[in-house]
Amino acid sequence: MAEPRRLTPLGTPAELRGECARIRSAGQSLGLVPTMGALHAGHRSLILRSLAECDRTAVSIFVNPTQFGPGEDFDRYPRSLEADLLLCSELGVDLVYAPTAEAMYPDGFATWVNLRGVLVETLEAAHRPGHFQGVATVVTKLLVTARPDRAYFGQKDAQQCAVVRRLAADLDTGTEVVVCPTVRDSDGLAFSSRNARLDPAARRQALAIPAALAAAAAAHRAGETDPERIRRLILGRLAESPDLAVDYVAVVDAETFEPARQVSVRCEILIAARIAGTRLIDVLRPGTDERLAVGAGG
Ligand code: PAF
Repeated sequence: MAEPRRLTPLGTPAELRGECARIRSAGQSLGLVPTMGALHAGHRSLILRSLAECDRTAVSIFVNPTQFGPGEDFDRYPRSLEADLLLCSELGVDLVYAPTAEAMYPDGFATWVNLRGVLVETLEAAHRPGHFQGVATVVTKLLVTARPDRAYFGQKDAQQCAVVRRLAADLDTGTEVVVCPTVRDSDGLAFSSRNARLDPAARRQALAIPAALAAAAAAHRAGETDPERIRRLILGRLAESPDLAVDYVAVVDAETFEPARQVSVRCEILIAARIAGTRLIDVLRPGTDERLAVGAGG
């Protein structure tokens, strides 16, 4: 079998803009998969979806410093550019954009994208001040530069998905935001670049997260629609892992992130927790995502 060609990443916004303009002027559709690298099976599913739906697929790899707060894990965030390029080549990605921080935020950079309202005040926003300003700014820059027809995001980052959907609509970017289902490892843990930092004992305790969501899904299937009872059920399951520090468990409207009054398919049930210095998030859309059971595979 022929070796996949080695992709040489584009490094500047001008290069990305030029390549994407060439794709558009050839009448081809473009999908963009924004990532921070350390690609895993979750990213792979986003890339495969873009390859299936678009003529051309671009992947951006950029550990965006502006979405990490002081004391967060920017320096420790896993980086594996060579392996990422190889995976992109093998999958048939057309171009990879891997700019430096200086290329994205040159001296004098002063324009930040800020949403308003509950969506950027609650949950992840409250625990990670400034996070969504960094995400919204970098995603806007990518959308403005590449002008993709579709951009692909994983549902695990549910609040990020809502933020990106909102900004793409409000700023008339013309990009369809496609949210793809969470991909899980064979033990049920949602894939995340940060999982690489979990030792076996921490990972065992982290499995309380998908187990708690599976218990919530089962309770909802059995007719439970009270958000507070679902929250208490989840907190009880998480408490079985003594080293898991829970940041929040919430049941919210999937668009506005206002607290939900009833558990339904329009809600998201969210968990954020820390184990051994690693922060993990996970989400369940009741009635739609039932692949949570341990051993469900991804
Ligand atoms: O989800 C991520 O990996 C990042 O938040 C994103 C969307 C690539 C922006 O840096």
